[in-house]
Amino acid sequence: MPRPSARSAALFSATLLPGALVCAFLAAQAPTAQAPATQAPATKNQASQPGGPHPTPTNLKVLPKGTTGDQVDALMRQYNGDLGVECSFCHAQNPTTHEDDYPSDGNPEKEQARYMMYMTADLNEKYLNDMPDRRYADPITCGTCHRGKDHPSVFVPATK
Ligand code: HEC
Ligand code: HEC
Repeated sequence: MPRPSARSAALFSATLLPGALVCAFLAAQAPTAQAPATQAPATKNQASQPGGPHPTPTNLKVLPKGTTGDQVDALMRQYNGDLGVECSFCHAQNPTTHEDDYPSDGNPEKEQARYMMYMTADLNEKYLNDMPDRRYADPITCGTCHRGKDHPSVFVPATK
């Protein structure tokens, strides 16, 4: 795979088609979130959060500007489940408070995850979308490969 060109093409689409890109990221979240995807995630999260809506993100480099705090939070919870990790796997801690500093890029796993976000978006938008006679609408998600593990293990077929 030509990594640099795939990456710049994804960036290109992130610049020109923010709506399409955020739809792709958010559509790839929960298999059940298909139909009411436009309203359900935000309201559901607000209701389940005692503190109200999540703060507006300040350091998004892959997700389109305008992605709400609630949308980011829903996606992040999916990442936790898909990789079987806690938020701190990707997010650096504030050295004084020891709380997760979400906008910080201090944890290198966060940049790895950004690369994976581009890769996953490309798989869906460039390959599966254009697949002739595609039969299933299921998007590729982080969990398609990771299956609840931070490092996807190499598949070894059962010996007969
Ligand atoms: C697999 C890695 C990963 C995990 C796990 C993860 N995050 Fe993130 N998070 C990211 C990446 C990557 C970004 C930046 C996305 C971008 O650049 O568009 C981000 C961005 C955020 C932001 C936006 C910060 C800002 O202001 O720009 C918040 C808030 C956040 N994450 C919260 C969480 C929470 C809460 C959890 C756990 C429920 C979590 N994250 C788990 C990778 C992760
Ligand atoms: C097509 C399969 C595939 C998909 C889809 C995928 N990953 Fe990965 N991911 C991998 C592989 C393979 C590696 C190991 C890369 C390496 O050799 O370092 C990896 C590594 C990672 C790592 C580094 C883990 C470590 O050991 O430090 C993170 C973080 C990660 N992926 C997050 C994500 C997130 C978040 C998504 C969804 C946006 C995602 N991945 C989607 C295959 C995938």
